Amino acid sequence: MSSTRREFLSTALAAGAFTLAAPSLRNVRAAGPLKVGLLLPASGTFAPLGEAITRAAKLYVASKGGSLAGRPVTFVSLDDESAPPKATELTNKLVFGENVDVLMGTVHSGVAAAMVKIAREAGVTTLVPNAGADAITRAMCAPNIFRTSFANGQIGAATAKAMLAAGVKEAMTCTWRYAAGEEMVGGFKETFEAGGGKVTKDIALPFPDVEFQSALAEIAAAKPQAVYSFFAGGGAAKFIKDYAAAGLSGAVPLWGPGFLTDGVEQAVGAAGNGIRTVLHYADGLDNPENKAFSATFKAAHGIDPDVYAVQGWDAMQVLDIGLAAVSGDTAKKDAMHAAMAAAKFASPRGPFEFSASRNPKQNFYARELKDGKNRMTGIAAASFADSGKGCRA
Ligand code: PHB
Repeated sequence: MSSTRREFLSTALAAGAFTLAAPSLRNVRAAGPLKVGLLLPASGTFAPLGEAITRAAKLYVASKGGSLAGRPVTFVSLDDESAPPKATELTNKLVFGENVDVLMGTVHSGVAAAMVKIAREAGVTTLVPNAGADAITRAMCAPNIFRTSFANGQIGAATAKAMLAAGVKEAMTCTWRYAAGEEMVGGFKETFEAGGGKVTKDIALPFPDVEFQSALAEIAAAKPQAVYSFFAGGGAAKFIKDYAAAGLSGAVPLWGPGFLTDGVEQAVGAAGNGIRTVLHYADGLDNPENKAFSATFKAAHGIDPDVYAVQGWDAMQVLDIGLAAVSGDTAKKDAMHAAMAAAKFASPRGPFEFSASRNPKQNFYARELKDGKNRMTGIAAASFADSGKGCRA
């Protein structure tokens, strides 16, 4: 336990906030249940994303008979509402109030940045199953922080590569004005402009606004060669439908990181046809792990998994590898974290390994949405790592 966590505990205990059987805690915990705290959105525009991650994480544990490395796994969940102002209190509740062995969260970059700030101080084993905030695996990186998704700048760069390869030379960007939107646009621009592309205009809306009419009017008036856009969840479904209703689908090709079209295929129907995206996953990826995972997920939940489910599944795979290395004894943190950092396995997304800052080095697939499926059309960037700029741990 880190000194910060210990200090917080003794203060809280003195204040009578909660009680813990402190003397034999370590032995009891090595043999007893492993508590995983899930900080994820269960309400708001990202609720379906939180649900997919939760389902896949629980399914992984269930597929192992309910235990990892001999320890029965229990989950405690809090709804973070994708609201950054609530993040600190909720993270403290899980780390110090619930005393979780492992912290897993979240979807929204702003919430995740606040969560990781606490998690790195506390030293608690932390898995980030979506949020792409660059700093998490750049300046804020730490040996106990693992991300099983992507960095915002990384996916922006991979998408730029695919657009350049498709001959796009000029684009407008349209996104939400918060860390994820800004960094996905930032990473995109850097690579797109370095490759000779030109961004003519950036449009940004407050998160989680879905009033797209004035943005769409601006796009229709300017008629750029393409639009690069990050939205996700409920907001993405509405953007795609509004884009089509404005008559733009045929006129101005819509591109973006694959969050734009993952998990919303059914909701958007034909309005989504032809949208081109880049993501570290695609429907029907032809590998044995994806076939097995998709079948398991569909049998349990009646729908195909999306990228969020894959990220939740892989977070538990990484944890499982760490736990196995210490036979479930989470007190052996350094050894457990070293094994997690060295994890290398076949994921439903393809080969999975971490770069030095503990962010995935992975394939990014070019995809096109057609008839409800995001099918791979090529590789946008193979075995592509984020820069990890500023990571010193
Ligand atoms: C983020 O806030 O980092 C974020 C949210 C939803 C996504 C991707 C990234 O689909």
